Amino acid sequence: MARPLLGALLLARLATAQDIDIKRIENPGVVLYKTSGPLPEARLGDDFPGSFPARFLRQAWGLEGPHSPEGAALVNATGVCTSSEITDEFFGQAMLERAKAMFDDRGLRHELDAFLQSGVSNTHSPTPRRMYWVGIDILPNQSLALHSHPNVEFVYVAAGVMHEWRCPKCPVKRKYIPEEIKTNGKTIEKYWGPDLHKVNAKARGMFRHDAYNAGDMFINAIGDVHQSYTEEEGVKLLVMWGDGNADVPLEQLPRHSDFLNVGAAKAWD
Ligand SMILES: *[C@@H]1O[C@H](CO)[C@@H](O)[C@H](O)[C@H]1NC(C)=O
Ligand SMILES: *[C@@H]1O[C@H](CO)[C@@H](O)[C@H](O)[C@H]1NC(C)=O
Repeated sequence: MARPLLGALLLARLATAQDIDIKRIENPGVVLYKTSGPLPEARLGDDFPGSFPARFLRQAWGLEGPHSPEGAALVNATGVCTSSEITDEFFGQAMLERAKAMFDDRGLRHELDAFLQSGVSNTHSPTPRRMYWVGIDILPNQSLALHSHPNVEFVYVAAGVMHEWRCPKCPVKRKYIPEEIKTNGKTIEKYWGPDLHKVNAKARGMFRHDAYNAGDMFINAIGDVHQSYTEEEGVKLLVMWGDGNADVPLEQLPRHSDFLNVGAAKAWD
């Protein structure tokens, strides 16, 4: 009697544990954990993102969001939950509250709100972006290319350390029209970042180094320019993004930008 019951309980548990459809994709220097498709092109519910972030972290990486000290500190800091029991839903709510606070700090809350109200980002662009959840595992000692963001993004650092060179003074490109490129018989849509060849990367305050640890969050507003890289820890990120970003063309990199890393890792086409 006990055995079949236990078996049924285990099956039920597995069924809920595997409820998110996640596809693991290996790229140079990066492993992506892609969800099956974008969010609906509609106003997001008041319960967004709900239990999704906590369940995703468990399923993709076996990591605890709400029941880790860092996750608990995030929930605590946002004040969404005053009880001692931090549920998956409170964790999701804390992520969104923290993202809202960071957009507020930059005076760009309208960019996040436009996404929450429509389900897409950069509604002023000719090509508003559908938005996706993704897990990005940047392996140790890797760097992405210098790029800009065609849409808003918010990111939870699940493990490791994320380093970046951020360019707060770089020109902000808001309008993105993808270029169709054929490679190996498939057509991809390539987005290009701003032309930065007139920027002197060594000018005072042009680039700033930041590092984010497990439990930290950071955001990208539309047009933000940065280069992300890892040291020996690598990093695992849970990201709300537009399924790719806009690389600065190699011949349009800022002058004196050789301190930026090589940028050989690839998280998008
Ligand atoms: C949560 O906040 C309370 C009061 O602000 C503090 O005493 C407690 O240590 C915090 N817990 C965590 C996990 O940060
Ligand atoms: C990363 O780089 C550091 C410093 O060069 C080195 O000690 C470490 O072995 C590297 N780790 C990996 C996994 O390549």
